[in-house]
Amino acid sequence: MNINLCNIVDLPKIQDPRGNLTFVESGNQIPFDIQRVYYLYDVPGGSERGGHAHKELHQLIIAMSGSFDVVLDDGKEKKRVHLNRSYNGLYVCPMIWRELDNFSSGSVCMVLASNKYDENDYYRDYAEFMRARWSKD
Ligand code: TYD
Repeated sequence: MNINLCNIVDLPKIQDPRGNLTFVESGNQIPFDIQRVYYLYDVPGGSERGGHAHKELHQLIIAMSGSFDVVLDDGKEKKRVHLNRSYNGLYVCPMIWRELDNFSSGSVCMVLASNKYDENDYYRDYAEFMRARWSKD
């Protein structure tokens, strides 16, 4: 798995003077079935979240309101992606270390995930992630 697989997905946007509408369907706009939705909100200025990687989980990260940055790290390369549109999602494949920071006030980060919460799917220690990452090459 490498960072180039993590791309911005342009979600459908139905423009309407009454308000715009965007949708996501399992297996259509994203290459996985959605088993879970979670969201971060009331994030205090300056805080960082999500310093971890997942063994198997696929995710789509969307800035539903406001903006924040996602820093992706595949063990070789890093990239910082700024999310600020609710019709854009960042697809994050398994085995990517990711951190979220630079939250604007009132921002909401929604994550669509391919599996239910499972602590055993996490790497929370960067050194352990790196060892596993290199052993997969
Ligand atoms: P975590 O994924 O560790 O977020 P971060 O890396 O930003 O701190 O989640 C924080 C806590 O919430 C952790 O104790 C696990 C719990 N949690 C759930 O119970 N279900 C979920 O779907 C998620 C994402 C987290």
